[in-house]
Amino acid sequence: MVGKITIAIDGFSSTGKSTIAKALAKKLGYIYVDTGAMYRAVTLYAMNHNLVSFDDFDWEALVRCLPSISLTFKFNADLGFAEMYLNGINVENEIRTLEVSQLVSKVSAISSVRKKLVLEQQEMGKYKGIVMDGRDIGTVVFPDAEIKLFMTASADTRAQRRYKELIAKGDTVSYEEILQNVVERDHLDSTRKDSPLIKAKDAIEIDNSDLGLNEQFDKIYALVKSVSSIN
Ligand code: DC
Repeated sequence: MVGKITIAIDGFSSTGKSTIAKALAKKLGYIYVDTGAMYRAVTLYAMNHNLVSFDDFDWEALVRCLPSISLTFKFNADLGFAEMYLNGINVENEIRTLEVSQLVSKVSAISSVRKKLVLEQQEMGKYKGIVMDGRDIGTVVFPDAEIKLFMTASADTRAQRRYKELIAKGDTVSYEEILQNVVERDHLDSTRKDSPLIKAKDAIEIDNSDLGLNEQFDKIYALVKSVSSIN
């Protein structure tokens, strides 16, 4: 039995990775890191500096700007999770818009962007005791993670979830455009050259299309107990 471990959670967009990761981190007293927020924050930076749009992408200029992009997480006790700060400014809401979701796959395909973020993620997890979610956590960031999960759900289930979240926040979006974004991102994230979204050989697949949060949590927590020394 080992002490603190590393839990890597990968999977397609809106598979409920972050919900389960947050719940696990809270129960275990571990750090939770949402790596998608980091790729989203770099995308927001690129949008704000007119480097990326639906038609154009000056990725070389973005790569030149990388040293001046600072990403930090600050824990918000009221929300119970760490919010994303881009160059000292809280961007937690701005990074969740449909526009950012539509442009983030372009930005996250750039190897220099990935290199910077992967190094920062590895630094955050160097003492273990971390739950990290994303697309390449079990394959690239922490290939030695003690637990690797790969979450899936049907595109329709995921689009429904995302649609409800955005509508609840007051965004005006249609279900069709959300579904289209989910399907497009699945394709782009799993076919890009650098670190595509693939299930690590030793990852456990969890299809949660018809699985409630408690059921999922109990299943995963039992797994954690079997490999770490928690009671
Ligand atoms: O988890 P999310 O939907 O917030 O992630 C947004 C995008 O960031 C996703 O479409 C692909 C990219 N991403 C990535 O390439 N690697 C990660 N580890 C996390 C996210």
